[in-house]
Amino acid sequence: MHLVVICGAAGGIGQPLSLLLKQSDLISHLALFDVVNAPGVAADLSHINTKSKVTGHGKEQMDEALKGAHTVVIPAGVPRKPGMTRDDLFKINAGIVRDLAEGVARNCPNAFVLVISNPVNSTVPIVCQVLKKHDVFNPSKVFGISTLDVVRASRFVSEISPAIDPSTRITVIGGHSGVTIVPLLSQLPNSFADSLSRDQLDALTHRIQYGGDEVVKAKDGAGSATLSMAYAGARFTLSLLQATVTGKTGLIESAYVHLDADKKNTAAFREKTGLEYFALDVEFGKNGVGRILELPRVSIYEQALLDVAIPELKTNIAKGASFITVSA
Ligand code: NAD
Ligand code: LMR
Repeated sequence: MHLVVICGAAGGIGQPLSLLLKQSDLISHLALFDVVNAPGVAADLSHINTKSKVTGHGKEQMDEALKGAHTVVIPAGVPRKPGMTRDDLFKINAGIVRDLAEGVARNCPNAFVLVISNPVNSTVPIVCQVLKKHDVFNPSKVFGISTLDVVRASRFVSEISPAIDPSTRITVIGGHSGVTIVPLLSQLPNSFADSLSRDQLDALTHRIQYGGDEVVKAKDGAGSATLSMAYAGARFTLSLLQATVTGKTGLIESAYVHLDADKKNTAAFREKTGLEYFALDVEFGKNGVGRILELPRVSIYEQALLDVAIPELKTNIAKGASFITVSA
């Protein structure tokens, strides 16, 4: 019995994400929670002839939806409009994410919690702090989904170099907003990064860091990335389920995590940077984070990106963490 709950299931991401997850036999029950239209989306999805049962839960039914969940995916909250930063969403989304994390602590304290709601750099610390407050925090079970940055990096690189297949995984570290997104293009084979001129490298890096803005601008007030995010969110969720439900090994995704999830492999990095949260490649295990892959050697160019990302991340993390008071 594996219950997966989508919080914000009737939204732009929630609907296609639910559709993609409905196709998986690893999920026995898909519970769709939203403050609007969840029963309608659930009724629609429930006619699809795959294994999982689908239920819809409205505004007052969060506890019922979350009860006993194996995995909770959170794309609830408002998206950006042109001219906004992700941090501008904090005012509204911080409270939404806090209340959902409270629901997790009450109803499914052992669940894997996958955070999509922006600003991810701050909403993940909010979830962790709420779970700490209730004494149910397990750093191996809370993830900020930064997979869309990896998906974009793979796609954009393949557009420049047809020799690189779009499915090639690229390591993207840091956080999930602008300068905190640090693609490690030096890791690509055949000296790909060295084959680019400085202008080309700057342009590609900027496109990966600001891919979200491209979509916000093109949607012109109607929201941000939903379909590509649903794809990325489903990929991440299904990888995690394969590891935690079937025990499959060797599954790696980038994720924004609390570094206590693997103290050994992150100790040196943490000491050097003072960061508590960071996006790194994670190998899933039976209990969530199996191990965090050590930061590979970065180029001088990438170190300069990191030098800009780290102070910004620290500000974002402090903002999220201080939103919740945890008594000692
Ligand atoms: P949307 O407005 O289309 O959908 C959000 C849904 O959340 C709505 O259906 C809304 O009713 C619901 N909701 C609001 N408050 C809720 C609550 N308290 N409980 C349950 N549901 C609630 O927005 P969207 O385009 O789906 O984006 C959702 C969030 O995901 C935004 O914050 C956006 O910035 C973020 N996002 C993150 C990434 C990423 O890479 N991590 C990518 C794209 C979007
Ligand atoms: C994205 O990267 O597309 C999301 O974080 C949504 C946004 O606000 O850009």
